[in-house]
Amino acid sequence: MGKTAVVPGSFDPVTLGHLDIIKRAAVIFDDLYIVVLNNSSKNPLFSSEERVRLIEAVTADIPNVKVETFQGLLVDYAREVNAHAVVRGLRAVSDFEYEMQITSMNRVLSEQLETVFMMTNNQYSFLSSSIVKEVAKYGGDISELVPETVRKALTLKFDQQ
Ligand code: PNS
Repeated sequence: MGKTAVVPGSFDPVTLGHLDIIKRAAVIFDDLYIVVLNNSSKNPLFSSEERVRLIEAVTADIPNVKVETFQGLLVDYAREVNAHAVVRGLRAVSDFEYEMQITSMNRVLSEQLETVFMMTNNQYSFLSSSIVKEVAKYGGDISELVPETVRKALTLKFDQQ
């Protein structure tokens, strides 16, 4: 049986940093589920369905990737898709405490679920969805930070507001 991993996140919206992790994880695992989850400390700009559609668009050329959304705990989703591991990207030391907290909580909830961390490429170490939204909101150039489909979606979203 092949190895399955879940890449969870808010993906509001997906950035080139996320895409870098997804592409590299897709080489290591046989099946990769990208799941858009709810982070209760964030107020998303895009709906879950919009976020799923954007990720689907930018991962269309990766055959072993499936994109879904899930209302609930990551461990329950991971159980549902029989995942062997969760993959998270690490940018800087500042991510560590937050990731440690999530991973430890998930370990309490599901002892068997392993979390694997991948360091983002240096060029994306400063990148986050929040910073992209901030720049896009005020008309800054984000073309080096997100795929073109996402750039267009952000422009449209802020034009509508
Ligand atoms: O991209 P993010 O916002 O850093 O991702 C965080 C996310 C969505 C993976 C995390 O908030 C999450 O797993 N949410 C689902 C609810 C859950 O399982 N909570 C318990 C672990 S904190």
